[in-house]
Amino acid sequence: MSGADNDMAIRNIVKEGDPILRKICRPVTEITPRIRQLAEDMEETLYEANGVGLAAPQVGILRRMVLVEVDDVLYCLINPEIIESEGEQEDLEGCLSVPEVWGITHRPKKVTVRALDLNGEEITVTGEDLGARALCHEIDHLDGHLFTDRAVHILTPEEVEEHFGKN
Ligand code: NI
Repeated sequence: MSGADNDMAIRNIVKEGDPILRKICRPVTEITPRIRQLAEDMEETLYEANGVGLAAPQVGILRRMVLVEVDDVLYCLINPEIIESEGEQEDLEGCLSVPEVWGITHRPKKVTVRALDLNGEEITVTGEDLGARALCHEIDHLDGHLFTDRAVHILTPEEVEEHFGKN
């Protein structure tokens, strides 16, 4: 993605309980200046929040667009679709819209996603392990799903402390 410029703005992250997070997002039909601005704002919002991914509905925009970090590269994926998936993994997951909550989820070990980039070019991104989990998690947001729906276990406060240590 392109670097920061002075017009970027941090947007408010919608939290669980807000019905916006449960809606199905509409495809992006045209990559307008407004969509590019949204991508830049989402990038700044994501870095500010220290996350690895952010979906447009998390900033209140019901469009099929996500930012996600895979192998240290940040991708803006427009109208993303999982076209291949293999294996299974079980690991911890969290979400900027569900602060301080961690859960164990099952996700594919490896996924390949097809999407458009901000130039309207088709791209495919393959993620394994954390990358696969992040891609699935962000794409889930576009259909109103949160990781807490899929979690096989939500960590208790004691387990969180054990896992992350005391602040
Ligand atoms: Ni999330």
